[in-house]
Amino acid sequence: MALRLKTDYLEGFLTKDEIKAGEAKAKAAFDRVEKDSAEKSQPVGWLRLPVNYDKEEFARIKAAAEKIKSMCDVFIVIGIGGSYLGARAAIEFVKSNNYNLLPKETPDIYFSGNSIDGDALHDLIEICKGKRICVNVISKSGTTTEPAIAFRVFRDILVKQYGEDGAKERIFVTTDKTPKPGTLKEFADLEGYETFVVPDDIGGRYSVLTAVGLLPIAVAGCDIDAMMKGAEKAMIETDSFDIENNDAVKYAVIRNLLHDKGKKSELFVTYVPALQYTAEWWKQLYGESEGKDNKGIYPTSVVYSTDLHSLGQYVQQGERILFETVLNVAKPKHEQLIPETENDVDGIGYIAGKSLHYVNEKAFLGTVYAHIKGGVPNIVMELDATDEENFGYLVYFFERACAISGYILGVNPFDQPGVEMYKKNMFALLGKPGYENHKI
Ligand code: PA5
Repeated sequence: MALRLKTDYLEGFLTKDEIKAGEAKAKAAFDRVEKDSAEKSQPVGWLRLPVNYDKEEFARIKAAAEKIKSMCDVFIVIGIGGSYLGARAAIEFVKSNNYNLLPKETPDIYFSGNSIDGDALHDLIEICKGKRICVNVISKSGTTTEPAIAFRVFRDILVKQYGEDGAKERIFVTTDKTPKPGTLKEFADLEGYETFVVPDDIGGRYSVLTAVGLLPIAVAGCDIDAMMKGAEKAMIETDSFDIENNDAVKYAVIRNLLHDKGKKSELFVTYVPALQYTAEWWKQLYGESEGKDNKGIYPTSVVYSTDLHSLGQYVQQGERILFETVLNVAKPKHEQLIPETENDVDGIGYIAGKSLHYVNEKAFLGTVYAHIKGGVPNIVMELDATDEENFGYLVYFFERACAISGYILGVNPFDQPGVEMYKKNMFALLGKPGYENHKI
């Protein structure tokens, strides 16, 4: 198991019997996901994806990644929500949150089209000046405004820089299979861009292990075979319903039980800044899957020890509505040591020669004990390392747990009807044809 759930820090908040009592609901939820898959009644293509993916497209992703690596200094990944968070999470998790600044042989990677801020786009255009550029535009629907704006801008830049034919070589499109009128797929086919598919039966937030995430991840030099292997391992280990040994089921049960006890918000905790976007990805997965029908655990996140100096006070003594899910990494990539000095003016001589990981572990343990004493239950998950295999494992683990958890909660974990409301208002305010009669 690459990821292990520990229930030791739930003592006093939940009993073993309570967890056991959650079994019946969890079994029904687990079976429902399997039934969705068998009947193809919900988009659960991710459930068997680790063994059931398009091998021909997988090879094309690798080939395109090699081509992109050789052709550009800057790779612009355009997408929003599920069409960008997973790739960004993976690259920072496996490589670094300073990926662009570190010496490397792969292109710098920037994410665009995930906001409508003109300054952000302007600055990215400045960064790209004088550089060789490739673009991957990702949109399952192919109609989302944010990426459409960024793509229009970058396509224009590429055409000016390389001509229509040259631009064609540098634009990669990841979208729906079917070219519906007015969508990205129709446009891509018309222009002759290379396209990759977001499978019909996989929703945006469950799509990181499809071309949506895999192409940018491969361009960053990550081993996508190892990532799929990690996901396969998680699939096998969570495939049978067993509340004792299936940690995805156990996690789904525990978070719902804590919610029932008034813990309305789940704080995803990492002690590794490179996992900040893993937390962002997790937040979207759980927030969009569960927050509906006036229900849902509010997912939020922190990076400790950084945020112990900002939100730590609230967690320790604020309103008792929180529980924490701590993702603790067992093995860091680098063993960074605290230097010995002749004198001890800074007062940290007692930890000289120790690694930062050692100190971080003590910060983690000290914080867990402080927070449980303060009335904050802690679910602790230990992850082996921050490599490709572990990332694949983690993605699959949380996806499966999310589907089960959503059904335990009593919502459909695969739709997102609430996302449309802001779009309709915005379109009406912008005067988009067809929205003339929309009332805000
Ligand atoms: O998970 C989801 O479905 C959403 O977050 C989408 O990924 C997001 O809205 C972007 O949609 P699209 O990929 O269609 O542009």
